[in-house]
Amino acid sequence: MNVATVAAIKGGVSTEDLEGIDTQVVLSNTYHLHLRPGDDVVYKMGGLHKFMSCNKPILTDSGGFQVFSLAKTRRIKEEGVYFHSHIDGHKLFMGPEESMRIQSHLGSTIAMAFDECPSAKAEHEYVQMSVDRTTRWLERCKKEMDRLNGLEYTVNKNQMLFGINQGAIFDDIRIEHAKRISELDLDGYAVGGLAVGESHEEMYHVLETTVPYLPENKPTYLMGVGTPANILEAVERGVDFFDCVYPSRNGRHGHLYTNKGHINLLNARYELDDSPIEEGCGCPACRRYSKAYIRHLLKSGEMLGLRLCVLHNLYFYNHMMIEIRDAIEKGEYSAYKKRKLDGFLEYDS
Ligand code: GUN
Ligand code: ZN
Repeated sequence: MNVATVAAIKGGVSTEDLEGIDTQVVLSNTYHLHLRPGDDVVYKMGGLHKFMSCNKPILTDSGGFQVFSLAKTRRIKEEGVYFHSHIDGHKLFMGPEESMRIQSHLGSTIAMAFDECPSAKAEHEYVQMSVDRTTRWLERCKKEMDRLNGLEYTVNKNQMLFGINQGAIFDDIRIEHAKRISELDLDGYAVGGLAVGESHEEMYHVLETTVPYLPENKPTYLMGVGTPANILEAVERGVDFFDCVYPSRNGRHGHLYTNKGHINLLNARYELDDSPIEEGCGCPACRRYSKAYIRHLLKSGEMLGLRLCVLHNLYFYNHMMIEIRDAIEKGEYSAYKKRKLDGFLEYDS
């Protein structure tokens, strides 16, 4: 998924641009859109697809994670979370029902359950208590989503609901939670609470122990991950799809992904480099422009520089997923993964 937190891919990338870079799904955010422009505005404009003029599936994150990572003071209660807006500080409340109502207003293709993402450093006792509450929240999400999908004026009456597995790095909590949420027969399942400070090895271990307990015939989504290497490892452990800000965020800083590793376009060695970011890349930047030119645009603070870098990086990620699907279909995933990872070993910075 390509990340469009506030219903826009940062770096001036339009929904029309997405058609040229093989985007599969767009991710947007409940918390941000609730604050601005307001989910009532998006609802009145006919839902997020129409508002953004987006013809791809859209997944909305529930707001749970953003409340924990962005909002200032917050108090977690059984009913939900009390917090202050990160924009103007005003008091807000969000619980499972509120999150489902907002996502129903947005009319996304896939709504995410309202969850708590405990810190990677939290103790077993806290994580157990938190995950039990997240399970109760999930039951409330499902009930509310079923009700909303049955209402006459709902934007998307077929809105899907995905559950989110939590449990920090504790195998027993992760496995028990995976079993419990699998019983709810949701449209898909995510593994949350990873890439929040634990090591890569700990993350891979959680995936190895947890993913086998999620339904095999439903999509499995690893939230907020990650580097190309993280994705290759997670796919091997059964994950189907991902979202991450890396390609767009790094692109905006001139950090570019290539099959040989990442390069920093601001590096002086590219001043007179007439070649594209990556030879043979079909993205709008590489089809037409040299590294030297894009570097000049970045150094001059020109919007076009950011845009081209973000387009290249999103294309790189989107195409890696295409290669992954091809390799799996041909039964050659292990060999593909090894080749791809070996290629990344060359860095310039
Ligand atoms: N994005 C990255 N991690 C998480 C998570 O644990 N929960 C939610 N809702 N979103 C996330
Ligand atoms: Zn390119």
